[in-house]
Amino acid sequence: MRIIQVKDYPEMSRKAANIIAAQIILKPDAVLGLATGSTPIGTYQNLIDKYNQGELDFSEIRSANLDEYKGLSADNDQSYAYFMATNLFDHVNIKKEHTNIPNGLNENIEEECKRYDSVISTLGGVDLQLLGIGNNGHIGFNEPGDAFQTGTHCVKLTDDTIKANARFFETIDEVPKYAYTMGTGNIMSAKAILLIASGEAKAEAVYKSCFGPVTPEVPASILQLHSNVFIVADEAALSLCRTNNCI
Ligand code: PGA
Repeated sequence: MRIIQVKDYPEMSRKAANIIAAQIILKPDAVLGLATGSTPIGTYQNLIDKYNQGELDFSEIRSANLDEYKGLSADNDQSYAYFMATNLFDHVNIKKEHTNIPNGLNENIEEECKRYDSVISTLGGVDLQLLGIGNNGHIGFNEPGDAFQTGTHCVKLTDDTIKANARFFETIDEVPKYAYTMGTGNIMSAKAILLIASGEAKAEAVYKSCFGPVTPEVPASILQLHSNVFIVADEAALSLCRTNNCI
């Protein structure tokens, strides 16, 4: 694991975008694993700026998103498909047919999970996987639990996650209770992983993930076993790592 310490959210966003930009330049038809949530918004904005400055070409880039709420359609403004369209895809020259997100409207869980796993393998796997991290250490919607799940699966969201996501909905009752997510096996199969974290609320999750035991109770801790992980985190997110003299 390589921990890149930065001052704050804007610097995290610039550094993360630079790493993704390098991937796009080195491999113009790379497969990017993409993430949603508030953390990557600045990273996507920086990528859009680079695209507008003529530095990046997304025309051959392919993408696979980590997760999607079950029950939300792509045009629901809380769906992750909508998030990706408004925060990145609509602003760069990526081809829509090159982008992949689990289909939240597929009621047939087994079919959708198999379909998405085969989408990822048909793409040839993910070259660079972008990840945020939940306050509870989740990655994608792999919530703390008894075991690491390998492939795409449907999860019941924890109360913590529902509460954390309620800020995007009118009422907490509107937050979907289930989601499709890549498994930790899918994530670990990426050739490189870029985890971004900002703010004090992430400090415990970052500390446990980087320096605690590898356990499904802290899903991101499995990243310790991957040989090519970059963590770009700001001072607040790294505060516990620092007070424990780990960095
Ligand atoms: P956030 O979520 O970026 O909105 O904090 C991250 C996550 O839950 O993976």
